[in-house]
Amino acid sequence: MVRERQETVGGRRVRWLEAGPESDRVLVWLHAFPLSAAMWEPQLQAPPPGWRLVAPDLAGFGGTADHDGPPHIDDFADDLERLLAHLQAPPVVLGGLSMGGYAAFAMMRRHPSRVRALILADTRAGADSAEARANRGRLLSLVRESGAAGVATQMLPTLVGETTKRDRPEVVARVRALIEANSAAGIARAIERLRDRPDSTPLLKAIAIPVLVVAGAEDVITPPDAARELAAALPHGSVAIVPAAGHLSNLEHPQAFDAAVGGWLAGV
Ligand code: MLT
Repeated sequence: MVRERQETVGGRRVRWLEAGPESDRVLVWLHAFPLSAAMWEPQLQAPPPGWRLVAPDLAGFGGTADHDGPPHIDDFADDLERLLAHLQAPPVVLGGLSMGGYAAFAMMRRHPSRVRALILADTRAGADSAEARANRGRLLSLVRESGAAGVATQMLPTLVGETTKRDRPEVVARVRALIEANSAAGIARAIERLRDRPDSTPLLKAIAIPVLVVAGAEDVITPPDAARELAAALPHGSVAIVPAAGHLSNLEHPQAFDAAVGGWLAGV
């Protein structure tokens, strides 16, 4: 059963989804841009036995209020630190997909003692290139002009893989609905967080905990080769490629995603 919780944490409204038993084994999932914790529904419906799952809405998404000050990727890490303190959670396995992975790197920079193992799904360590920054500028204009719906139309063709587009229209519709449920203001501030995030590549060698790197076989944003390179740059990295899935590998092929994660978790 998935439990929805909404509380004031650090003076702001924070919403998160939970599943599984009260347990010392806590797995946190951080969502992609521009979705929300609800993208982890397939995982929340079937938690690995004995694990407590926690999936927060990141600042400005879903039911979590944004910060007042200038947006920074570190906001996501500091919020998670406050939430874990609020939950009195022991060190967690932290999983992040794409933007959630950027937040996980921020967590490793700022609050590493909170994390005992990492899952980096469909994400990258590097900062935005000049071209990517220019694209962020265009996306900012789009969200101001056309709102979340315009962003969904622009991003959907690359967010999901070819197999999903061909065979699973209900997944495409679900992703669109998740994006459109967000506010234009929240999406705009997240674009700034993504655009200005630091390069996490120098951090990789110092990540001395087990890391599973996951990528959808059809991910055109962070392709499988990039995942293999990321895993190779980590002292304790391993890689899993999810077949018949694009960038949102957990939503597109939950069975394969969960099998990869479940097998790895058993050894953590
Ligand atoms: C995401 O899925 O979170 C985005 O692709 C991240 C990004 O735009 O860099």
